[in-house]
Amino acid sequence: MNYEKFNVAPGGALTGRIRVPGDKSISHRSIMLGSLAEGVTHVSGFLEGEDSLATLKAFKAMGVKIEGPDNGKVVIHGVGMHGLKAPQGALDLGNSGTSIRLMSGLLAGQGFEVEMIGDSSLSKRPMRRVTDPLAQMGAVIEATEKGTPPLRVKPGNKLKAINYTLPMASAQVKSCLLLAGLYAEGTTCVTEPAPTRDHTERMLTGFGYTVERNGATACVAGGGKLVATDIDVPADISSAAFFMVGAAIAPGSDVVLEHVGVNPTRTGIIDILRLMGADISLENEHEVGGEPVADIRIRASKLKGIRIPEELVPLAIDEFPAIFVAAACAEGETVLTGAEELRVKESDRIQAMADGLVLMGIDAKPTADGIVIQGGAMGGATIESHDDHRIAMSFAMAALRASGPVAINECANVRTSFPGFVELAAKAGLNISAQ
Ligand code: S3P
Repeated sequence: MNYEKFNVAPGGALTGRIRVPGDKSISHRSIMLGSLAEGVTHVSGFLEGEDSLATLKAFKAMGVKIEGPDNGKVVIHGVGMHGLKAPQGALDLGNSGTSIRLMSGLLAGQGFEVEMIGDSSLSKRPMRRVTDPLAQMGAVIEATEKGTPPLRVKPGNKLKAINYTLPMASAQVKSCLLLAGLYAEGTTCVTEPAPTRDHTERMLTGFGYTVERNGATACVAGGGKLVATDIDVPADISSAAFFMVGAAIAPGSDVVLEHVGVNPTRTGIIDILRLMGADISLENEHEVGGEPVADIRIRASKLKGIRIPEELVPLAIDEFPAIFVAAACAEGETVLTGAEELRVKESDRIQAMADGLVLMGIDAKPTADGIVIQGGAMGGATIESHDDHRIAMSFAMAALRASGPVAINECANVRTSFPGFVELAAKAGLNISAQ
C-alpha cells in the first residue's frame, strides 16, 4: 500500500482496544545483538517497519541467517562476536538514524571495510556525534565534509576503551559507544547528561553481557560474549502516543492501548499529558524480558497548557510532534525549552510542526530550542509532513479537533515506524484515508 497522501475528515472520537506495532528501538537491537550472539534468538512482536527491516537486511547482507519476519516472528541464527562477514555492497539503511548510529559502533569493531548509506533525510543527519568519539577509540570512519552519511568504516587497529561524557542526551550515541566497547581493549564507560532510553543496556544484560550501571554512567568491558535469548518486543509507546493524544483531545474517546512498553526512560509522554490534565491509567502492569509493559487507557478530557519540565524532554523525545497537537487543543500556553535535538530528527520537527499548526490557525512560535503554543481552534489545512512519519501521524490526529478536512503530503515514511497506521486509526474512529 502506498501512503503518499493522507486525507482526514474532521471530527470523530477514538474508541476500542488497540495494539500498535512493536517497539522500533527494541526491534533494531534484537537483530543486532541476536546476530552477534552464540545460538538462536527467537523474537516475537518485531516491528515490520522499514527502519527495523533495514537493520535486518543489513545483518543478512553480513552473512547472518535470519528467518522472517512472519507475523512479527523473527529467528536469528547468531554468528558470534566475530562471525560477521564483509557485505557485497553498501548497506542501505534508508531513513533510519538508529541503524546507522548504532551500527557505526558495532562495525568499528569488525575487521572489514563497510559503507553505510541512506535516503535524503538520513544523508543530512549529523554523524560527528558518533564518529568523533569512535575516532578517539581508534576507529577509522569517513563521512562527508559536513559530517553526514555515507559513512565508510575502515579496518583499523583494535579499538581502545574510552571514558566518554556525552555532550547531548542521546541513546543512539550512548548505544553506539557501548557496542563499540564490546570490541575494545579495556572498559568503556559512557556518562549521559540526562537519562535516555536504556534498551541497549537492558538487552545486553538479557544476552548475558555484564553492564555496570552507576548513576548516569554505563560501562562494558570488551572481549565478552553474547548468549542467544528470546525477546518479546512490546508495542511501541512512540506509536501509541498518537492514539494517546488523539483520545485525549477528541471528546467521547476511550481507548486502551495493549501491551505497550512503559520503560521509565520512555514514559515522558504519559507524564507530560498527565500534567496537561489528561485522564490516563495503566492497567495490567508486568515485565517481559527485562522491559516493563502495561495496557494504557486514555479517556478524553479538558487539557491545559503547561511549561514542559526540561528533565522530561529526553524521555519523550520522539513524542513532541504529537504533544504539540495536544498543546494546540489545550487551554492556554504550552512552552517547551531544552529540546534543540528536535531540529535534527527525520525533519526539523520544531519548524515542521510550527508551520503546520500555523496553517491550521494556531499561534505556534518556534524558538531555538523549543516552541511556544497557544491553544485555540483549529481549521482544516494542507500540511507538509517533510517526509517525516511522526509529523504525518500527528497532523492526522489533529483532524479530530479541526473544523475542516486535513490533507497531509509525503506520508510514505509512515511505513518506517508504523505499518498499518491508516487501517488501525480508521478502525479506532479516525476518518482517514490514504491515496
Ligand atoms: C533512539 C534514540 C533517539 C530517538 C530515536 C531512537 C534509539 O534518538 O529519537 O527515534 O533507538 O536509541 P537520539 O539518541 O538521537 O535522541
